[in-house]
Amino acid sequence: MIKNSYHLNTKLTGLIGHPIKHTYSPFIHNISFELKKLDYIYLPFDIPIASLKTALKGMVALGLKGFNVTIPHKENILQHLNNVSDEASIIGAVNTVVNDLGKLTGYNTDVNGVYETLLPYKDEIINNEVSVVGAGGAARAVIYTLIRFFKPSKIFLVNRTEQRAEALKNYFYDKMKYDSFKTQELFPPDLVDVFKNSKLIINATSIGMYPESDDTITTLSNSFGKDQIVFDLVYNPPKTQLLKIAASQGATILDGLKMLVNQAAKSFELWTGEEMPTDRVQKSLQLYIQD
Ligand SMILES: NC(=O)c1ccc[n+]([C@@H]2O[C@H](COP(=O)([O-])OP(=O)(O)OC[C@H]3O[C@@H](n4cnc5c(N)ncnc54)[C@H](OP(=O)(O)O)[C@@H]3O)[C@@H](O)[C@H]2O)c1
Repeated sequence: MIKNSYHLNTKLTGLIGHPIKHTYSPFIHNISFELKKLDYIYLPFDIPIASLKTALKGMVALGLKGFNVTIPHKENILQHLNNVSDEASIIGAVNTVVNDLGKLTGYNTDVNGVYETLLPYKDEIINNEVSVVGAGGAARAVIYTLIRFFKPSKIFLVNRTEQRAEALKNYFYDKMKYDSFKTQELFPPDLVDVFKNSKLIINATSIGMYPESDDTITTLSNSFGKDQIVFDLVYNPPKTQLLKIAASQGATILDGLKMLVNQAAKSFELWTGEEMPTDRVQKSLQLYIQD
C-alpha cells in the first residue's frame, strides 16, 4: 500500500490522537489517494494531551494540508484553531482540520458519516421516535445530525451515567432549541420498553468494541422487531453482538464501517477537493479487517 516514490511535492495529511494504535484511517486515506492517483500520504501521529499546542505548530511548520483529530483532542483543539465550522462549533468537537497557509479551520465530519449511513432510511425516521444510547462525543454528532436532517418526533437518550444524558438534553435545547428528549439510565431490562416505540435505535457507546466483543447494550432479543433499524457506531468488529441480536429478530442492521468511510470521505474532500470512491474503499477495508 505504501508506495516508494514520495518526494518534496508529496502532500502530507495525517491523524493526531493518543493512543492511536487501532486506527483504520491510514488505510482508508492512503488507499483512496492511490485509487485517485493523488500525490498525498496520510500518517498517524501519537500526540499526548500536553503536547497538543506544540504539535499543531509542528503541523503548520511541516505544511500538512490537513489532519484528523481523535480522542483525547477533539474538544480541546477548538481553542487553538483560527476558524471552526458552524457544525463543529455546535457539536463542540472537531475531527478534521484544514491547514490553509497556516490558518487552521476545524470541521466535524462525523456528521457526514451519520448522515450518509441514515439517508436511505430518511422517510422512515422523520416524525418517528429514535433511541440513542451514549452521551459522549459520538452521541453529540449523532444527535446533531438527527435533529438537523432527520427530524425525529422524540429522542430517547439512554446512558450509563444519566446525568450526562440530562446534560446533553439541556445542551441541545440551548444550541438547537430541540426539546423532545426523554432521558433514561442504561438498564437493560428497561430498554425493551424504551426501544419498543423506536423506529431507529443507535448505539453510540463503545460497548461491544474489540476486545470486549461479547458485550452489548442489551441481550434481550425482544427489544427488537422487524420494523426497526438498528445502527451500531462500533466498527470493530463490524458485526457486533448487538447487531447479531437485532438481525435475529428481523431488524435492519447498519454497522459502523459506512459511517467510518463516509466521515473520512468528507475529510478527504476538504483536503483534496476530490470525491473519495467510498464503495471501493469500504470493500477494501472489509477485506483488510478480515485478514
Ligand atoms: N463508526 C464511526 O465512524 C465512529 C465515529 C466516532 C465514534 N465511533 C465509536 O463510537 C463509540 C463512542 O465514541 P465516543 O467518542 O463518543 O466515546 P466517549 O466520548 O468516550 O463516550 C463513550 C460513551 O460510551 C459509554 N460507555 C463506555 N463504556 C461503557 C460501559 N462499559 N458501560 C456503559 N456505557 C459505557 C459512556 O457512558 P458514560 O457517559 O456513563 O461514561 C459514554 O456514553 C466508540 O466505540 C467509537 O469507536 C465510531
